Amino acid sequence: MQNSNEQFPEDFLWGVATAAHQVEGETFNDWRSWEIANASYWAAAAGPRLDYGNGTLPMVNWLRLAPEAINPDNYISGRAIDNWNLWREDIGLAESLGMTSLRFSVEWSRIQPNPYSINKTALAHYVQIAQELRSRRMEPIVTLHHFTKPTWFSASGGWERNESPIIFEKFTQIVGRAMSDAGISGLRYTVINEPEQAVLSHLRGTHPPGKKNPYKYLQVIRHMAEGHNVAFDSLKDIDASNQVASALSVWDLEPKQNRFERVSQSLISAIRPFLLDYFRDRTVDQMDFIGVNHYMHNVIDAFKIYRNFGMWQNSNAEPRSDLGWYLHPESLHKVLLDVSRHKKPVMVTESGVATQNDKVRERYLVDTINAVKRAIDDGVDVRGFLHWTLVDNFEWPPIGWMGKFGLVAVDRETMERTPKPSAYLYRDIIKRNGVIDGN
Ligand code: BGC
Repeated sequence: MQNSNEQFPEDFLWGVATAAHQVEGETFNDWRSWEIANASYWAAAAGPRLDYGNGTLPMVNWLRLAPEAINPDNYISGRAIDNWNLWREDIGLAESLGMTSLRFSVEWSRIQPNPYSINKTALAHYVQIAQELRSRRMEPIVTLHHFTKPTWFSASGGWERNESPIIFEKFTQIVGRAMSDAGISGLRYTVINEPEQAVLSHLRGTHPPGKKNPYKYLQVIRHMAEGHNVAFDSLKDIDASNQVASALSVWDLEPKQNRFERVSQSLISAIRPFLLDYFRDRTVDQMDFIGVNHYMHNVIDAFKIYRNFGMWQNSNAEPRSDLGWYLHPESLHKVLLDVSRHKKPVMVTESGVATQNDKVRERYLVDTINAVKRAIDDGVDVRGFLHWTLVDNFEWPPIGWMGKFGLVAVDRETMERTPKPSAYLYRDIIKRNGVIDGN
């Protein structure tokens, strides 16, 4: 670990990212149906290795997590953390920790409960959140699509449909106009969160609609890219000062260092265009900045075809998150350098760790922030860092509630929030505009 005493740029944004379905409660969309249909299966399948559909990862502290993991309720979002009602409190919490930005998502299924009508109350809710943030000098960053889709959209083919970009565009216009009519200008948007998630929905089949079809996978990403591009044009037409991006999931893929390293490297070069670059290459010209979500570092061994190229072979290395994800902060530095080749400003739109051990979170926070600083020192134009996430929330199954990514704990009976030591550490980093020795 290295510490940097130098500060971040003056107007660097420090904050957190959240997503509607994971925090609001009582959202009814394709995910809600998926959870209800599969909760018992996930609970029965739970074990010391978490099954991600293309291999398993060893969980840390399995015995501590097991009571939650084997309970079907772990996989139901339900009331979530009641942020639909407690949104003001959560903004207050972020403000009290000194944050200058908050990324949240608008729930499409609330705003358009059917294709023909708009729920004005829901729309006003999100406008109010953006206004409240601005009034507290925190920059809102609005995600328009964070995994969940209205059931009417999914039922008619979802992103597989050729018309899907146009249907999505209408929704983005509804939100964009409402924000602009309310006088919110120069708003930052991350249109689509992690389009690469189509790997899970259409290749591995672990996210809804649970398909395993390479053709449909590419079709879905292509349509999402078109969706991004038409949303970009609409949001710019509505207000030319809007800053529009999408939040990419950027993995760090590294070849295994053995005598077959060059073959593994060629393999990475061969799969990258379909895994990481397919959406990016089609949209990057229509991005004002690039959002980078980063969690994964993977060592690829071409000769482990039988085990997904050993994709997760480094899962036994330490340190790991509770979910078995190998923690490698240096990867963030690497992916930021990689993304900088597009010559656009970059924002870390998500970075964090699922752990019940807050010391692990503290270490990871400091190390990843230092990795961002090194990227800035190397010339990357990084504009902000958003930690995932503010409050422990509902994680996408097969993880569910047992994945604790928050700076703040929550009692799900009383909904009382309690900041963890990492929350105060983050507050201090923000106050000093960077990590100082001793953090
Ligand atoms: C998603 C978040 C999720 C986080 C941790 C990201 O891929 O955008 O919604 O909670 O990873 O799993």
